[in-house]
This record gives sequence, C-alpha cells and structure tokens, in this order.
Amino acid sequence: MPDTAPAIPKTYRVKSFGCQMNVYDGDRMAELLAEQGITPAPEGEDADLVVLNTCHIREKAAEKVYSDIGRLRREDGSSPLIAVAGCVAQAEGEEIMARAPAVKMVVGPQAYHRLPAMVKAASEGRRTTDTDMPAETKFDALPKRRRAGPTAFLTVQEGCDKFCTYCVVPYTRGAEISRPHADLIDEAKRLVDAGAREITLLGQNVNAWTGENARGQTLGLDGLIRELAEIPDLARIRYTTSHPNDMTPGLIEAHGSIAKLMPFLHLPVQAGSDRVLKAMNRAHHVEKYLRILEEVRQARPDIALSGDFIVGFPGETEAEFAETLALVDAVGYAQCFSFKYSPRPGTPAATMGDQIPAAVMDERLKRLQDALNRDQLAFNTASVGKTCEVLVERKGKHPGQWLGKSPWLQSVHFTGDVAVGDVVRVALTSAGPNSLGAALIAPVAA
Ligand code: SAH
Ligand code: SF4
Ligand code: F3S
Repeated sequence: MPDTAPAIPKTYRVKSFGCQMNVYDGDRMAELLAEQGITPAPEGEDADLVVLNTCHIREKAAEKVYSDIGRLRREDGSSPLIAVAGCVAQAEGEEIMARAPAVKMVVGPQAYHRLPAMVKAASEGRRTTDTDMPAETKFDALPKRRRAGPTAFLTVQEGCDKFCTYCVVPYTRGAEISRPHADLIDEAKRLVDAGAREITLLGQNVNAWTGENARGQTLGLDGLIRELAEIPDLARIRYTTSHPNDMTPGLIEAHGSIAKLMPFLHLPVQAGSDRVLKAMNRAHHVEKYLRILEEVRQARPDIALSGDFIVGFPGETEAEFAETLALVDAVGYAQCFSFKYSPRPGTPAATMGDQIPAAVMDERLKRLQDALNRDQLAFNTASVGKTCEVLVERKGKHPGQWLGKSPWLQSVHFTGDVAVGDVVRVALTSAGPNSLGAALIAPVAA
C-alpha cells in the first residue's frame, strides 16, 4: 500500500485520551510542533501528522489505540504520519511498532521533547521509538508557554513511587520528581499573561511536591500555592491528584487560609475495607482517610469532596464491598470517579488469585454508582439558593448562554453580558445531576 505522507508534515492533530496530565502533555506536544512551523489541522480536515496521546490505566484504553490507528487510514490506503505517545507508548512501544506499520513514531511521556527530531526522521522514512526516561528533564527542552484559555493545567510533580498493586503509572511515568519552584512560578506567570485565570496544579501525587524558593526555604505544595496566590491576575488555584499519605497539616490548613485555593479536594481512597487497602498497597487505613477529610472540613467547612474507587479488586468479598458503600455514605461526596478493576500486565494484582468475575464487578459498580449519583445530585441540590462566583469558560449551546465553574467545580450555566475569563457572581437557581442553572448578579471586580 502506498505511504503517501508528505515529506515534511504541514499540519498536525494531537488527540489525548488520558488523565489531565496526559492532556497537559498533549498541549505541550502541540506547542513543540507549532514551533517547527507545523500548524493545527482545521476542524474536520485531515492532518499530515497525528499524535495519539494514549492512556494505559485500564484495558480498553489500549485497544482503542489500535482501532484509532486503523481509522486513520485514508480511502486511497495511505495514512498520515502517526506518532503514538503517552503511557501505552511507554508500556507497549515495541509491540505497537511490530503490530502497526502505519505508526512511524513511538514516544514515551518522559521523552516527548524529542518529538521534532523524530518527525524529521519519519519524514525521511525512518521509524523511531523513544521510551527513554532521560536524566535531563523534558521540561527544560519545551518551549515557553504562550497560549492559554481561562483555565490551564500546570504539571508540578510527575511520576509515582507508591506502587499500588493494581497500577501501571509507576512503570509508565517513572519515579516521583518535583519540578523546580522557579520554573513553576515562571510558567504560571506566563500562563496568566496568556489569559489563564485559573490554574490546576497537576501531579500523579501532586501533594508530594517539594521544592526550594528563592530565599532557600523548603516548601511543600501549600507553600507553592501560597506563592502562586500572589500572582495578581490569577483568580483561582486547584490541584489534583492527591494521595492521603501526602496530605500534610500545612496543606489542610491552606484550605482555610488561602482565598484563591478553591474549596474542592480530590482525594482517592479506592476502597472502604482495610484488608483490600492493604492488598492494594495503599499504605493507610480507612480511619486515617476519614480523619483527613474531617480535618479538611474543619479548615474549610464548605469543601466539596471527590475521590476514585475501584470495585472488584482481586479477593474483594461482598462484605468488603459493603464497606466501600458505607464509606461513601459516611463521606457524602460531591462527585467521584469509579472503575471496575482492570488487570494490568506486569502489576502484582494481575497475578493474584481470586480475580472477581465480570458480572459481579458490573453489579458492584452499578450499586456504587447509584450511591455516588445520589450524593452528587444531593450536593448540587443543596447548592440551590446559594450565591457564588463563577469563572466563565465558554459559550453554552443556547443563544446568550454561558458556561463556567462554581468554586466547587460544578458546571454552571446562565445568560448575561459577560465574556470568557470573567469571574462573575451568580445566584444558583436550579440543579441537575451534572450541572446547575444560575442567574447573573454582577461581575466581580478583579
Ligand atoms: N495517582 C492518582 C491517580 C492514578 S490513576 C491516585 O493515586 O489516586 C486514576 C485512577 O484510576 C486511580 O485512582 C484508580 O481509581 C484508577 N485505576 C488505576 N489503576 C486501575 C486499574 N488497574 N483498574 C481500575 N482502575 C484503576
Ligand atoms: Fe497509581 Fe497508586 Fe501511584 Fe496513584 S498512588 S499513580 S494509584 S501507584
Ligand atoms: Fe493514563 Fe498515563 Fe494518565 S496511564 S491516567 S495517561 S498517567
């Protein structure tokens, strides 16, 4: 079959399939390609170069990559230049190269700053794989940030040393690193100069971030947030994802004392049974988790809580699953993510005995999601009647309608004379499972 990709690609498209950090990486790859003079392909048009920025966290994500590669094939049998990036690239790079001849580049999450050289090689007909975890950090090699919407991601910490027994992230992202303080302040200021009003600090264990400021003081994530809060035009700060064991007293206290830090905490627990937590290697008990949430609520009584859950971890009994439901009832989450356990190659849990049948997992997931949906609707309903600030993110579907987020990360829609990036005061008037309706009160002075 002919491979009629152009010698040097003129247009690109980056498709990101994973977590927020994966989206951040996708944006950074787009910036790198733009620096080479390659432009984004217009909506609905073929791109000369397609980057599939993949996620390996659960099974179907990897299968999706192969079907996407197939779907990129054009009617005449040719394909664009295809790069597979992200965590599937890291874990299964060799296999992808062997199985999918249309893929010309495989690049891991710690090597994507080398993408321009790989594109050049590909345009000369050479296929390359780069899944190194180089000692030099990719961040130093990436271009300065010049574009940002009203909300922006900023990776501050990357990698994981926790080795939960079900999880691929320590293998695909490598060891925990914290980006230097000065680089982060600089990147945050650039994002704000480019129009960001809200920055979400990202890390696989974001609250494990540590660094040294210009005065030589050692800071934790709370110290970094405190300094970022000084940036005048930055209105809001969020962070995700946190691990219970890195939830320091300082960070808990920050929720009570830093006005720009939004009242929202995503703190995954995964399961409500101490035996299951131990088998997962989560390294804390349920009681400690609940104590942390209690302390955070004391610091910031209106905080919205979020978490992640896995049902059907190997060996999970009905009684142990019932403990997860009890934990959910005890916490009253504003929103959560919940997943069926997916055995990942190379992880300890994949070879544990007593894997749970699919039908049992389906049934448990449904019961858990019913409870979580009930609580999410209750949280939204309880917001009706409150006034709050909303950061306007984009136009809504209806004429004159705008969409934004409440401090508690709820989607809010309303009409009025506002612009993207405004922070406005609204009265929350109606609630559904996934969004709230509101009436505009007044813009908030910057
Ligand atoms: N570092 C974060 C998030 C990691 S991945 C943390 O520790 O919380 C996001 C979520 O995917 C996890 O919290 C977990 O709920 C889910 N997950 C990870 N591996 C999984 C697997 N093998 N099967 C099902 N869900 C999984
Ligand atoms: Fe995965 Fe656990 Fe690390 Fe989170 S803390 S990335 S779940 S190994
Ligand atoms: Fe997926 Fe990798 Fe993120 S596996 S969840 S893209 S860290």
